[in-house]
Amino acid sequence: MSALAGRTYCITGTSRGLGRAVAEALLMAGADIIALARRERDLISLDNFANAHGRQAMLVPVDLRQPPDFGPLAAAITARGKPLDGLILNAATMGECRPVADTPPAQWQEVMQVNALSQLQLLGTLAPLLRAAPAARVVGILDDHMTGGYFGPYAAAKAALKSGLTAFAAENSQGTLRTEFFAPPPMATQLRAKAFPGEDQTKIVSPQSVSTELLKCLV
Ligand SMILES: NC(=O)c1ccc[n+]([C@@H]2O[C@H](COP(=O)([O-])OP(=O)(O)OC[C@H]3O[C@@H](n4cnc5c(N)ncnc54)[C@H](OP(=O)(O)O)[C@@H]3O)[C@@H](O)[C@H]2O)c1
Repeated sequence: MSALAGRTYCITGTSRGLGRAVAEALLMAGADIIALARRERDLISLDNFANAHGRQAMLVPVDLRQPPDFGPLAAAITARGKPLDGLILNAATMGECRPVADTPPAQWQEVMQVNALSQLQLLGTLAPLLRAAPAARVVGILDDHMTGGYFGPYAAAKAALKSGLTAFAAENSQGTLRTEFFAPPPMATQLRAKAFPGEDQTKIVSPQSVSTELLKCLV
């Protein structure tokens, strides 16, 4: 039996790409998930996948551009009466790939909000539940590849996420809660296609294969 069986993990950005692959891998490993995604149809198809594997998915529709108060979500997770064993901060948007000097303020705000601020806010609200779990893991998805020119807001938001999580890790170094970083290789996803439109995505790895590596951060 998988070490993850019976545990519960919350994941952002579960509609497609790596977030979807991780959500499905967790369900196949016997875990339950709390899935955050923008569109109802994406959540419903994940729910169907969970049911087919005899697992539970709590479905949370949320647009991270305008984060709600996550308090009711924390209350709903508490009401399940089971620990929250981990939080995977995965959702991201590339925004428009432009030079920094040509990037309008609204673009900076949106990418920072989605990729860093909303997810750090989610972490803050769920932190008491994560601390209460026997040995919870927080995983921040970083990016070692899309850091150069034309990726300014995206790279800045990843740096903000990393700094916020580094502080959180130091503040929680006494208990059993651990914070991990995971920087995937180039993967065949929409985000990557937006950054490199001419790339042959058959030559890079699938998010499904990367999800297996990511799950190792959780045990
Ligand atoms: N692909 C790569 O080569 C690569 C390399 C290094 C790191 N990464 C990182 O890996 C993670 C996953 O990326 P990916 O490649 O799988 O990208 P992806 O396929 O584009 O998936 C991004 C996810 O984020 C969600 N998201 C974006 N904006 C949102 C919003 N406003 N509200 C709620 N959800 C939103 C998307 O949901 P919607 O469907 O609703 O848009 C989607 O589920 C990201 O953190 C990325 O930075 C990727």
